[in-house]
Amino acid sequence: MAWKVRLIAGAILTCLFVALYSQSHLPVPKGREHAGNSQSAIGDDGRRRRKNGDNHQDVLAVIVPFRNRFEELQTFAPYIHGFLNRQHIPHLIFIVNQVDKYRFNRAALINVGFKYAKNQSTYMVMHDVDLLPLNRNLSYKKPGKAHVMHVAAPGLHPKYDYPTFIGGILIISNEDFAKVNGMSNLYWGWGLEDDEFYVRLKNADMKVARPTVTTSKSNTFEHIHATRPRDMTKCFDQYNKTRKRDRMTGLRNVNYTLVSTTRIVIQDTPLTVLNVQLKCDFQMSPWCDCSKQRPNTTITAKT
Ligand SMILES: *[C@@H]1O[C@H](CO)[C@@H](O)[C@H](O)[C@H]1NC(C)=O
Ligand SMILES: *[C@@H]1O[C@H](CO)[C@@H](O)[C@H](O)[C@H]1NC(C)=O
Ligand SMILES: *[C@@H]1O[C@H](CO)[C@@H](O)[C@H](O)[C@H]1NC(C)=O
Ligand SMILES: *[C@@H]1O[C@H](CO)[C@@H](O)[C@H](O)[C@H]1NC(C)=O
Ligand SMILES: *[C@@H]1O[C@H](CO)[C@@H](O)[C@H](O)[C@H]1NC(C)=O
Repeated sequence: MAWKVRLIAGAILTCLFVALYSQSHLPVPKGREHAGNSQSAIGDDGRRRRKNGDNHQDVLAVIVPFRNRFEELQTFAPYIHGFLNRQHIPHLIFIVNQVDKYRFNRAALINVGFKYAKNQSTYMVMHDVDLLPLNRNLSYKKPGKAHVMHVAAPGLHPKYDYPTFIGGILIISNEDFAKVNGMSNLYWGWGLEDDEFYVRLKNADMKVARPTVTTSKSNTFEHIHATRPRDMTKCFDQYNKTRKRDRMTGLRNVNYTLVSTTRIVIQDTPLTVLNVQLKCDFQMSPWCDCSKQRPNTTITAKT
């Protein structure tokens, strides 16, 4: 049943994408030209950069793990595009759309998005689709070596406020993300993948920088998601296993098929959609599919 709903939702999403694509005549954005069939890095203007004597070629890949959130995407994409343009940050946006039948795996999707984007970018922001930065002083610049910038910091994020929280929006250089072997691929369902990633960063002596802004929890971000259930089911030994550091999986062995890629434009914002079929290693993480076992705990929290 849920699978059917997902299929139908997927079909609707595809239709919408196709409709948007054909309406928009896919403008070639002004700015830096890139070889290949990628998006051009947009948002900065080469002339302005040269005038400022700032010739570095950093390009930000915005990596958005995604499934069935098309309404939020329609708000998010033009918003983040405008936000980054105001900071003169050349950027490319990648929507990593999970199309397999397993539970949502945010971290594995980020790994896949990174692998695809890394040739066209020098750093990335892993970005929740439902979190809009309101404060223009939140910088999306590349962090220094061995530093990550946790934009959605505790105390600023509308919801999460524990000291080691690094979810929501996190900026990291390509070099540093590769160095820690990306994120664990074992986190199917909602939560904890970012806590495991925090331990990877800590073990690699990377520092988590946080923005210094004058706004607070209530007015730094806008959470745009509709009330919806989160997949907090735990089955097999997921509960215990996902509370341990994973030294086995990550960027280097994320297993998937890139089914297709589509370039779409939402308003004036070009995006690349990666349709990704994740593979599940049932030895390592049988909880990618809880339908095969009666879950120990099923909590469906409304958020
Ligand atoms: C990235 O670049 C490397 C080296 O040029 C190449 O081997 C690889 O296929 C490229 N990957 C993608 C996803 O384009
Ligand atoms: C951003 O920073 C500038 C300079 O410090 C300050 O004047 C301004 O009020 C800040 N804006 C916000 C929204 O915090
Ligand atoms: C999980 O951990 C709890 C508490 O340490 C323990 O009681 C339980 O037996 C463990 N379950 C599994 C499947 O390892
Ligand atoms: C990737 O997944 C496929 C299908 O489940 C499996 O046959 C293959 O062995 C996996 N490859 C790796 C490297 O894990
Ligand atoms: C969950 O269920 C499995 C199989 O029924 C069992 O082996 C495991 O100990 C349970 N885990 C917890 C935390 O209760």
